[in-house]
Amino acid sequence: MNFTLSSKPITDIKADCLVVALPEKGTWPESTTRADELLGGQIKTLQKNGDATGKTASTLLVPLEGQPWSRLLIVGTGADKDRTPTAYRKALIATAGQISDGPSKHAAIALADTPVTGPEASGSETAKLNLIGRILEDQFYRFSGFKSEKLSTRKLAKITVTASGTGKALKDAFNLGLATGRGMNLTKDLGNTPPNVCHPSWLAEQAEKLSKEYDVVKTDVLDEKQMKKLGMNSLLSVSAGSAQPAKLIVMEYRGGKADEKPYVLVGKGITFDTGGISLKPGEAMDEMKYDMGGAAAVFGAMRTVAETKPKMNVVAVIAAAENMPSGTATRPGDIVTSMSGQTIEILNTDAEGRLVLCDALTYVKKFDPEVVVDMATLTGACIIALGSHATGLLSNNDALANDLLAAGERAGDRAWRLPLWDEYQSQLDSNFADMQNIGGRPAGTITAACFLSRFAKDYRWAHLDIAGTAWLSGKAKGSTGRPVPMLVDYLMSNVGK
Ligand code: BES
Ligand code: MN
Ligand code: ZN
Repeated sequence: MNFTLSSKPITDIKADCLVVALPEKGTWPESTTRADELLGGQIKTLQKNGDATGKTASTLLVPLEGQPWSRLLIVGTGADKDRTPTAYRKALIATAGQISDGPSKHAAIALADTPVTGPEASGSETAKLNLIGRILEDQFYRFSGFKSEKLSTRKLAKITVTASGTGKALKDAFNLGLATGRGMNLTKDLGNTPPNVCHPSWLAEQAEKLSKEYDVVKTDVLDEKQMKKLGMNSLLSVSAGSAQPAKLIVMEYRGGKADEKPYVLVGKGITFDTGGISLKPGEAMDEMKYDMGGAAAVFGAMRTVAETKPKMNVVAVIAAAENMPSGTATRPGDIVTSMSGQTIEILNTDAEGRLVLCDALTYVKKFDPEVVVDMATLTGACIIALGSHATGLLSNNDALANDLLAAGERAGDRAWRLPLWDEYQSQLDSNFADMQNIGGRPAGTITAACFLSRFAKDYRWAHLDIAGTAWLSGKAKGSTGRPVPMLVDYLMSNVGK
């Protein structure tokens, strides 16, 4: 898809589909008024007759003749009370749905002059262009590489988005949105790839591939021998039962000054989670291919960073392993010594995410991080607590937690904070080791984060539990690309700080 930003009047854009916004009531955006004038009041008539309601995300496709465009798509943006970023996002999703598989080859989208009010500058033209870019890329995503029948090629090949100008700020915002969408799509590709293909070594290859595509990203992969030497016995206890060796994947982007501390992203990369000897029940176990969703999001954010090249340093660390039962698998009751020196009694081999992450959290100390944000499909309890709308957020630093919450709010990729109080720590007391890897049923998301916090004492750290947000189940099964928008917004808001 070819995307361009244009400040030409809509009448000068020779697209075969023009997209304009129609509010239910109230003042029209300028592009809608102009289109209506050119079409001799046709939009007004359609509204009067009830064909075009203006209801949020409603769409009406009108064939035209003898006009600069062969069709007009009228997208409803609702009543005044609907001027929210959420309603605006819905209208953009509806737009993408209408044009993605239709007859048009070139669509001109005039939706950046629709008023939006919300948190911080979400109504600014830059915020809207960012969102338009991201939603379009996100919605045009298809995953079909494993179907023998190829999808028919899409007719739509070019999108022109109209704006008040094409200066650097507007262009950058639009391009950042597109790059965020592409980052999400990489996340989705990795997540959706089946687990017989997407194993730790394959993930490592994807990192090498990203480095090849963007030479600003340097990749380094540690194998099991190197991890053993570093004392990462907790991480290695997870891959012990698998024929696939674990990998620690490190990607470095150095766009800032050499002495600037890096933002470190850590991802859980369990390419398949059977539970190990503490075997999971069979139902929907296929979805445990998404247990590398944290790693996939780290990849996605890195791709966005690599494409947009912000002046900052970002380091990504992915703990990749497959959790399988076998004669060499870790047993419940086994005790391992982590890289930090702390010993762990593994009472449930299905609580493996924390076991790989803890060694990664110790490893990243070597980067002297500005902050560390880890993300993981860590606990089923997080789905019980927050469902699929909010990512769980736990942190040892209030400012960092608030920055991430605000970024999620701005990006429409929200998180909700849970407490990390000391009172919960005792649930991890073990009779035989420094700690056990499970804390019982109460507050499962919190005790999982408590476990991680013991390895993240030396820096500002936040943990994102994306068990409910990384993928959708059921008919719409597939990776969501979350929480890439939140991460990108957070990172970019720290450029130059
Ligand atoms: N990957 C799972 C968590 C998960 C389960 C995410 C279902 C999304 C959907 C994780 O490794 C796991 O198995 N966690 C256990 C922890 C328990 C044994 C303390 C869980 O949540 O049941
Ligand atoms: Mn598990
Ligand atoms: Zn898991």
